Amino acid sequence: MKKVLMCPPKYYNIEYVINPWMKTGTKIDRDAAYTNYSLLKENYESSGMEVLEIEPVEGFPDMIYTANIGYAEEDVFIKANFKAPERRKESEIAVNYFENLNYKIHVLPEEILFEGEGDIIRSDTKYFIGYGERTSIKVKEHLEKILDKEFHPIELNNPYFYHLDTCLGPLNDDTAMINPVAFTKEGIELINSQFKNIIIADEQDNNLLACNLVVNKNDVFIGKGISEKLKRELESYGFTVIEINMTEFLKGGGSVKCLTQEIFD
Ligand code: ARG
Repeated sequence: MKKVLMCPPKYYNIEYVINPWMKTGTKIDRDAAYTNYSLLKENYESSGMEVLEIEPVEGFPDMIYTANIGYAEEDVFIKANFKAPERRKESEIAVNYFENLNYKIHVLPEEILFEGEGDIIRSDTKYFIGYGERTSIKVKEHLEKILDKEFHPIELNNPYFYHLDTCLGPLNDDTAMINPVAFTKEGIELINSQFKNIIIADEQDNNLLACNLVVNKNDVFIGKGISEKLKRELESYGFTVIEINMTEFLKGGGSVKCLTQEIFD
């Protein structure tokens, strides 16, 4: 059973600007944020996923984006080293949370930036690490040592798609959805070499961060408003497309996956 960690949007807000989607003065509609959040959570549960929740802490308006606080696999939790000082304390809160669940905590050297599952993307058996915007390439050797897995590094070069989870959405080991404008030529080549089928998200889809998706068995959870073409393509591979309105969370630069830290066995 897939297990994920989410954080209710109690203190979610736009209080600083650390990516191009965030605009000073943007108002968050809290009721709408709760509606978006609950809909995602309920759909995960109906699909048979287990949803854990971390208690929101006042003063950390981005805490809803739990994907970024670190990486959890088996009994190991690797703490994020956030680029933005405003978010650094979130990973300490996460350490507390995982310590209580008896995880072994790994803290990376301070100078190595690492934004957790924002930049670690997995298909069934492959591991990818995004770098260049938020995460340092140097983290690769640390992750490989701690987890004893090979990571494929992918450079990001578009500030709108600043985490790997905003532009690469694997559906399984064969098929991935990508936003081609986020990568270098080498990045695209690497993705092509790892996946047999590539689904291209177009501008309408990328404006909704469509690649920021979560998969559970055949269910694909994705932002509402994606193009018909994308929907049909996903269905042609046998997936059930579950569209969730993520409007409030796009204001902070995130969608479905950003709100979801997968906890791996
Ligand atoms: N405002 C947050 C930031 O810029 C959004 C994080 C979105 N998360 C993600 N996994 N892409 O850090």
